[in-house]
Amino acid sequence: MLEMENTEGLSVNDDGHLVIGGCDVADLVKIYGTPLYVMDEEVIISMCRFYINTMKKLYGDNFNVIYASKAFLCKEIVRIIKNEKMCIDVVSGGELYTVLKSDFPAEKIYFHGNNKSFAELELAVKNNVGTIVVDNEDELRNLSEIAQKFNKIIKILVRVRPGVDAHTHSFIKTGQIDSKFGFSLENDEALNIVLKIIKEKNFQLNGFHCHIGSQILDSAPFVKAAEIMMNFIGCLKKDFNINTYELNLGGGFGISYLPDEKHLDYTECLKNVQKTILEQIDKFNINCPKISIEPGRSIVGQAGITLYKVGNVKEIKGVRTYVSVDGGMTDNPRYIIYGSAYYVVNALKMKEKRNCIVTIAGKCCESGDLIQKDVKMCKTEVGDILAVLCTGAYNYSMASNYNKIPKAAVVMVKNGKHRLIVKRQTLYDLLQYDI
Ligand code: LLP
Repeated sequence: MLEMENTEGLSVNDDGHLVIGGCDVADLVKIYGTPLYVMDEEVIISMCRFYINTMKKLYGDNFNVIYASKAFLCKEIVRIIKNEKMCIDVVSGGELYTVLKSDFPAEKIYFHGNNKSFAELELAVKNNVGTIVVDNEDELRNLSEIAQKFNKIIKILVRVRPGVDAHTHSFIKTGQIDSKFGFSLENDEALNIVLKIIKEKNFQLNGFHCHIGSQILDSAPFVKAAEIMMNFIGCLKKDFNINTYELNLGGGFGISYLPDEKHLDYTECLKNVQKTILEQIDKFNINCPKISIEPGRSIVGQAGITLYKVGNVKEIKGVRTYVSVDGGMTDNPRYIIYGSAYYVVNALKMKEKRNCIVTIAGKCCESGDLIQKDVKMCKTEVGDILAVLCTGAYNYSMASNYNKIPKAAVVMVKNGKHRLIVKRQTLYDLLQYDI
């Protein structure tokens, strides 16, 4: 019934209903309505602990697991990450503000972004954010001014483009030479910025960061990036006697969205990366920097599902059957942007045979607003509840109010209990910024 590889937290009860975190989705829909994001706390926590334990085995205490908050951010997820004693990465003043307002320790925040504004940098420095990941020279200039103004020492990682081409959707590749992110190793771009940083008394150069892309299913590009970064770090020590205390290798660990798709073998990938790092350490005879990783999707992706109600079924004879649901690209823009695949089930008819082909459409005024095209489902009728699996990452965080559709609520489930963690927007909310 649930032919997925990664259905941790999901099951089917005797009534043929999908159950998540011990909660029957029929009950959740009755209480909270649709569309509805549901997140399973146990799955999130187990992924956090998996990364922490794996890194501990590989690096002792010399590591950081940093949750990439862009994947899914609200106060409740920050609470979970804080409980697990992890760090958090933010990429805008808004993400930073959310994390700070959730009482997260500022020293455990990494601030990313290829165009941080002066005000955003000021907010970070004023609040003693632990690490600023510097992306470009203009940013460094602003940071220097702010550091002097507040008389603070800023801990810096330099973002490097390692020149690794990860095999993923072109929109979410970031490590190749032609990318808006970071400094390249070519033309000594990265080296020159390092030489500038170490001259400033308000800066403390901790090390380097790279992130090669997202939803990567193969460990080879991670290994390549680690090798290139360690080689750079080794040469800095050898040629300039500059020490590196932290190497942050970013996120990008791919998950499986479909029953026949294998997720990245995270353990194998991290082991292979460690092997390369150790080889380079030997080669250059240097100390191992603290190794950090920044998983986002693989922590929350599989923990989440989205529930919709079917509003109509339109059979176009000889062409296609459209099943329209009460959400769409507003709560999950990943199909229209990346053509992303998802597994959809009829959540209260889980025991029925999947012998019809239908296209599941959203309610926005766009023909491209689909959840999935031509997928196998059981016979679907008006009023049915559909569940889209693996929507925990980059769905709520990328949701919009297109067509003035209010954003859906988010419910957290755990051991048969459920609680609202983000309220559904109301029509009233939609007009709050209009003058
Ligand atoms: N670190 C940095 C610097 C990043 O830019 C990202 C993702 C991550 C970590 C986390 O990557 P993850 O482990 O989640 O793959 N909206 C796209 C994904 C964009 C990812 C952006 N950066 C999507 O829906 O597929």
